[in-house]
Amino acid sequence: MCRNRRGCQIRRAERLRIRIKDSDDLKVEEGVFDVPTLKALYRLSNKKFIRSLGGVMSTGKEANVFHALDEKGEIAVKIYRITTSDFRAMQEYITGDPRFKSIKHDKKDIVIAWTKKELRNLMRAHDAGVRVPMPIISERNVLVMEFIGKDGIHAPLLKEVASEIEDPVGTYEKITEYMRLLYHKAGLVHADLSEYNIMYYGEPIFIDMGQSVLLSHPHAEEFFVRDVGNIVRFFRKLGVECSEEGLIAEIKRGGKDDPHQSAG
Ligand SMILES: Nc1ncnc2c1ncn2[C@@H]1O[C@H](COP(=O)(O)OP(=O)(O)OP(=O)(O)O)[C@@H](O)[C@H]1O
Ligand SMILES: [Mg+2]
Repeated sequence: MCRNRRGCQIRRAERLRIRIKDSDDLKVEEGVFDVPTLKALYRLSNKKFIRSLGGVMSTGKEANVFHALDEKGEIAVKIYRITTSDFRAMQEYITGDPRFKSIKHDKKDIVIAWTKKELRNLMRAHDAGVRVPMPIISERNVLVMEFIGKDGIHAPLLKEVASEIEDPVGTYEKITEYMRLLYHKAGLVHADLSEYNIMYYGEPIFIDMGQSVLLSHPHAEEFFVRDVGNIVRFFRKLGVECSEEGLIAEIKRGGKDDPHQSAG
């Protein structure tokens, strides 16, 4: 018998043979480990995608990100919360995406579709040559991906290392090259790109692509202009000469990797 809710969660996790490093995490992560999520983790552990779940690295608006281990080493596990996600905000990004035409519009289905969408977006970005955490698998509301960092310590965000970046111009060029590849090769707009969703581990790494949309999405252009604005604002503060109009034109023109490059 378990005496309280938290005790029950721990027992359930144990029964499902999911090793959770610190039972305090269960308390902190209220709203994450419901039974269907524990079962999804169990399926992933049975299929050898997760060996043990470690501590929480981040508690965001919609998801919590955990450090974990698989058979080979470190991985990151992002768990979208079904109950406390802002699913109305999610809807705006899913409606208009032909890949998700048939999903029902209840909260659980939207969060599950969102998780799958992040996996697919990361794959598309990776295939286009953008440095992102290598996506591994998604199961229900759980996304497993490459861990960016070492020995349990995740890499910092671009925001956190702003003053230490040795080569702001080079970093700006790398990021805008990724924006170009994303636009032309993956056919995607990140849609929440800023110094808060770029990690820095010797190089910039784009993360958090659940909200990324295809270029055909009705709000793709608006999201693209917003992404450009965030990047320009950040790098201007670091002394890089750039402008929104210039970057929009440059990306739209296509980079050297775009075979359809046009003159104007
Ligand atoms: N693959 C990864 N490897 C290491 N750390 C990661 C990884 N993915 C995410 N993180 C860490 O978790 C944090 C949150 O990740 P992400 O932005 O994807 O989630 P989020 O819930 O959408 O967050 P927010 O709501 O704060 O934007 C990141 O800022 C980063 O510190
Ligand atoms: Mg984020």
